[in-house]
Amino acid sequence: MNDQQNLFPPPIVEAIQRDTVAAGFPMASEPQTGSLLRTLAATKPGGTFLELGTGTGLSTAWILDGMDQHARLTTMDNDETVLTIARCHLGHDPRIAFHLADGAAFLASLHGQTFDFIFADTWPGKYNHLDEALALVKPGGFYIIDDMLPQTNWPAGHAAKAADLIATLEQRADLTITKLSWASGWIVAAKK
Ligand SMILES: C[S@@+](CC[C@H](N)C(=O)[O-])C[C@H]1O[C@@H](n2cnc3c(N)ncnc32)[C@H](O)[C@@H]1O
Repeated sequence: MNDQQNLFPPPIVEAIQRDTVAAGFPMASEPQTGSLLRTLAATKPGGTFLELGTGTGLSTAWILDGMDQHARLTTMDNDETVLTIARCHLGHDPRIAFHLADGAAFLASLHGQTFDFIFADTWPGKYNHLDEALALVKPGGFYIIDDMLPQTNWPAGHAAKAADLIATLEQRADLTITKLSWASGWIVAAKK
């Protein structure tokens, strides 16, 4: 088995990738991550999805590709430039709602709502405001993070923060988690 072969990305990914490179956006997710996001998304027909950190829309495109026609995705970023790239390629899809917002304020605005699937790919909801994000996951829903293996772009001191986050998730009684030393390093958590 070669887990990097035959990933069959959604066709729109190629154009988003081009604009991502042209924009010099360095934080885009890799195809393996997209592939697993898509597979997990397909387990939630009619589901409610939340992505924290849209970037240029690469992970967004894979998630949409796994969702059925009744599912809905809310995605948020605080950078208008990258969000514009994502909107330009994916904005025609009636299942998605884009938000230009700070993650912490946005999480507060979601209080009381629940989601079947959260991909937390920015600081708020991952390295801060974790409790607020986890409170939004439905029982049986997924909370997903990547970039948990050491990355070349990690600032000084980030490894300790990652270790703290892993320990926190390991100790949560309301989650069942699996750590995957694969792609950029994943944690998939399901809410009990
Ligand atoms: C790792 S990138 C997202 C990559 C994207 N999900 C993908 O897989 O291609 C993190 C994103 O978080 C955004 N961001 C950083 N701080 C933020 C904040 N406080 N609130 C909202 N978005 C933030 C950045 O603009 C960046 O686009």
